[in-house]
Amino acid sequence: MREAIAKAPVGDDVYGEDPSVDALQRRAAQLLGKPAALFVPSGSMGNQASLRTLTRPGDVVLASENAHLLRYEGGAPSALWGVQVKTIGRGGLFDAEDVRRAITVGDAHVAPTRVLAFENTHNFAGGRVFPLEALHEAVRAAREAGLGLHLDGARLWNAVVATGVPASVWAEPFDTVSVCLSKGLGAPVGSLVCGSVERIREVHRARKLLGGGMRQAGVIAAAGLHALDHHVERLAVDHANAGRLAEGLVALGVRVDPPPETNMVMFEVDEPTPFAEGLRERSLRINAIAPGRFRAVLHLDVGAEDVEEALARIEEILRATRS
Ligand SMILES: Cc1ncc(COP(=O)(O)O)c(C=O)c1O
Repeated sequence: MREAIAKAPVGDDVYGEDPSVDALQRRAAQLLGKPAALFVPSGSMGNQASLRTLTRPGDVVLASENAHLLRYEGGAPSALWGVQVKTIGRGGLFDAEDVRRAITVGDAHVAPTRVLAFENTHNFAGGRVFPLEALHEAVRAAREAGLGLHLDGARLWNAVVATGVPASVWAEPFDTVSVCLSKGLGAPVGSLVCGSVERIREVHRARKLLGGGMRQAGVIAAAGLHALDHHVERLAVDHANAGRLAEGLVALGVRVDPPPETNMVMFEVDEPTPFAEGLRERSLRINAIAPGRFRAVLHLDVGAEDVEEALARIEEILRATRS
């Protein structure tokens, strides 16, 4: 990846003149089966620039429980666009009935529901994949009510590898799809928003409003191209490592819930405070994402032998905290 970065041809992308950015955008659009794509600095910007094009102030966006765009993007939908987010379903999933029940339109007293947003895989729900059939049913309910559709596909690649369903099939119903090159794909920075040519023109305008135009961005686009070429199929290794970590944790008497579907392991321990301290002391970078609830993420810098080492250190911590 560093070699690809060093060799990248560059130009000024604010003027649309960077060949590496162009190549990355073409490749992402082709992978997602959309006419156009725009390179943006982060997944958060991808989500928020998309929402800007799909909503007006006062609108409601329906999203999954603990959706990243609501929980972890600094309150951006309300702070930036004057949009409220209403969560539906449980554990990152919802069904067509949840969508129908939540929609409010055609009454001057209530805020109109404008968009349905999915997150696949779902971060807070532990890397859960949204089942394709349920997704299509919820999409139909949203379309019947005239809603726009956004997919936060920061980890769509994990869903692709876990299910064998191509990215273009996952992306097909959506007006906007954001995908990340960082995280499991290992690029240092960068995300893309994909959609129609007209839609991506509007997303470009939103990126400008957010200060997301980048000049010789080819150096980071090259990292993204390298990640797409070399780091997608290998996500299966992360999924296998997550499975092994979960199995080892269960053997240590730790509650793992839900069972991992992709590259994350969510677990709970009885003594979270000393456990978190033990993780820090033993250089295990596993976040507590809710009181008593931990999230381990597997990625290309964590190998099978690291998982065994992590389990050995966790066993030590548990022995110390239980005694
Ligand atoms: C589901 C999801 N969407 C969006 C983002 C935001 O990505 P970034 O950190 O690049 O802004 C993340 C980050 O973890 C995420 O998990």
